[in-house]
Amino acid sequence: MADDQLTGEVTWQSPSNIALVKYWGKHGRQLPGNPSISFTLDHAHTKTTIRYKKINEHSDKAVVNFRSEGAPNPAFSDRITTFLDSIRDHYPLSSQLELEIDSENSFPHSSGIASSASSMSALALCLLTIEKNIEQKDKIDMQRASLIARLGSGSASRSVYGPLAIWGKTGVAENSSDTYAIPYGTKIKPIFLNFRDDILIISKKKKTVSSTAGHTLMDSNPYKATRYDQAHTHMRDITAAMKNGDLEKFGEIVEREALTLHALMMASSPPYMLMEPDTITAIREIQSFRISNHVPVYFTLDAGPNIHLLYPDKYSTQVQNLKKDLRSLCEDETIIDDIVGQGPKQLI
Ligand code: PMV
Repeated sequence: MADDQLTGEVTWQSPSNIALVKYWGKHGRQLPGNPSISFTLDHAHTKTTIRYKKINEHSDKAVVNFRSEGAPNPAFSDRITTFLDSIRDHYPLSSQLELEIDSENSFPHSSGIASSASSMSALALCLLTIEKNIEQKDKIDMQRASLIARLGSGSASRSVYGPLAIWGKTGVAENSSDTYAIPYGTKIKPIFLNFRDDILIISKKKKTVSSTAGHTLMDSNPYKATRYDQAHTHMRDITAAMKNGDLEKFGEIVEREALTLHALMMASSPPYMLMEPDTITAIREIQSFRISNHVPVYFTLDAGPNIHLLYPDKYSTQVQNLKKDLRSLCEDETIIDDIVGQGPKQLI
């Protein structure tokens, strides 16, 4: 093999995503307790560049030098080394690589947007591109990229595809799987492909309970079995609503999913709350604006206090009035505007 195949540079830009039916609770090696479906975002993304070198001898530990936003980040270098060592069965090259990784997010660090989905999917795509270059393959296997992303962060499995993605075995998509996500979006009404997602940053503070701890607490949650059943029903009903163009049903499920996620946290042992008082104030304003103005604008929440405002693009002008009122509830009046996107892009 020529030397120039043993070193090189790859860059991927990969988006974040927002779950409509939430993944909450896992088992085994990062397998989901229930299926989930998400909108892939467009503006909120991570750009990851890796300069790589393949070495002949196998090392015990992958050699990683990680910089985030241009600054060396030793804690992250260690995390990625541990991750690479843990995926040797899926990515044998990891014991033979020296990696210089540069990662940048399009959204501010303290904005409250979780970067794990975009960063782990960008990393997985870079790793498989490196393998493709070294082993002179034609293309990368996106299913494997989704699987590797999943091992880094469950929700990252869905960021590999746009405009929507399903992760977890479900009756609504024949080829769905617990081990990787699949793209979704060809069978639904176009209005759902032109959705906006404006992220209201209610608080930029670090969460008091991490998602990892939250997933673990689902193991002993008394509502676990009922929740998993409900998620299956919601998957069936939300995909039917998107096929039929039923915005009202779609919104009803999306909001119930968001509140159920937080209800599960409040019903954990120990119980905890990630919503802030202004989260609830904003939810009430959104619901009353929707009723008074007949505008299909809905909210969803991640595992945190911030609100994702979801609505079809054609209602953007009307929703501006609502956003004017909601801005004062946001920390530093921060709202990050996003739209449904088409998935990751290879830049180099
Ligand atoms: O991928 P994780 O482990 O960060 O968990 C994500 C969990 C939620 O964002 C709350 C829901 C989801 O499906 O993305």
